[in-house]
Amino acid sequence: MTHSSSGPPADVAVVDVHDERALRAWWEVVAAVEADRPTAPFPDWPVARTRLVAPHPSAEVVLHVARRDGEVVGAARTSVLLDENPHLGLPGVWVAAHHRRSGVGSALLRTGEAWAVERGRTVLLTEVPSALGATAPGVPFAQVHGYDVAGTNTVRAADLRATEPTWSALDDRVASAGSDATVQVFVGAPPAPYDARLCALLDRFVDEIPLGDVALEGAAWTPELVRTRIAAQEAAGRTRLTVLALGADGSPAGFADATLSPASPRLAEVGGTLVHPQHRGRRLGLALKLTLHRELRARWPGCQVVRTENAEVNAAMAHVNDQLGYVAVETTRDLQKRLSPPSGGSD
Ligand SMILES: CC(C)(COP(=O)(O)OP(=O)(O)OC[C@H]1O[C@@H](n2cnc3c(N)ncnc32)[C@H](O)[C@@H]1OP(=O)(O)O)[C@@H](O)C(=O)NCCC(=O)NCCS
Repeated sequence: MTHSSSGPPADVAVVDVHDERALRAWWEVVAAVEADRPTAPFPDWPVARTRLVAPHPSAEVVLHVARRDGEVVGAARTSVLLDENPHLGLPGVWVAAHHRRSGVGSALLRTGEAWAVERGRTVLLTEVPSALGATAPGVPFAQVHGYDVAGTNTVRAADLRATEPTWSALDDRVASAGSDATVQVFVGAPPAPYDARLCALLDRFVDEIPLGDVALEGAAWTPELVRTRIAAQEAAGRTRLTVLALGADGSPAGFADATLSPASPRLAEVGGTLVHPQHRGRRLGLALKLTLHRELRARWPGCQVVRTENAEVNAAMAHVNDQLGYVAVETTRDLQKRLSPPSGGSD
């Protein structure tokens, strides 16, 4: 089949997530494009289907497909968050390998961008993964569409079974640092009073992590928002494990969390790790992640790999991860486009 890059490159249509055939066709394109990524982060069909049809109380999401001669050749997912970052639109585009460089990706991206702009979004942000030391096609593609690299992150992965024998030596390192903090572990939303203490840490999180130029703002965390987010994850088949560290006086000292699908627990993904500035320098970051790894292994023996993503400049977190046996597996770049304000506005 030959394709011309002139004229309308493909028909773009919204996917009804309750139309199983249409949803499956969307998933097949994305799964094929994502198949070679280390740690295989894109979920299998049963897990993906549950996730894609689950309601999103905190986000509005649209899926698109691009068809040529009736064949689905590209897919897109665009979302906007409803209770934080009201300026952001989050597009993502995948095009089947044999249909690239003929305008399919551009048609999908333009459709997703227009959808986000209709919802008042003024900054568009997308994440492009690349193999280590390489630059994937998504980077020049986004740049040609007006996006700039706003941040570079390293994805690291730890093999739980292979690293388990090192954990007792790490316990000794933690003990020798003399922190008086204790840790609590929660599956799902922590109950009161731990929920408010977790919120105090989450409120600091976006301000404390190196973000580069990414226009991400912190949410105003409340116990209710934490419960809503975790309930939405559970409805999507995902379970969150949180490790919370408390100082001797009960004050919040740090947290680490990870999410996995109990129906397919192979891969756990770290959401965040933070040690309160007053508690730094006493190996609490190591203690939190060590507990996280142990608990994942104990509660879901099928959990083999933990995946985490940190800004390239985040040396402290990289040092903790090195000790736990994480190895770099890929690079992700945050590509961001700031839209010019609508013309005719006053200043
Ligand atoms: C990035 C991706 C979506 C591009 O899809 P596509 O259908 O090939 O994109 P288009 O044909 O619309 O490309 C438009 C322009 O982007 C640029 N571009 C696209 N791929 C490129 C590449 N491999 N190298 C250099 N520039 C590239 C070119 O300027 C291209 O125009 P040209 O072909 O006339 O030179 C596709 O490679 C893909 O699915 N990659 C994996 C997922 C991903 O990284 N998505 C990006 C996140 S939004």
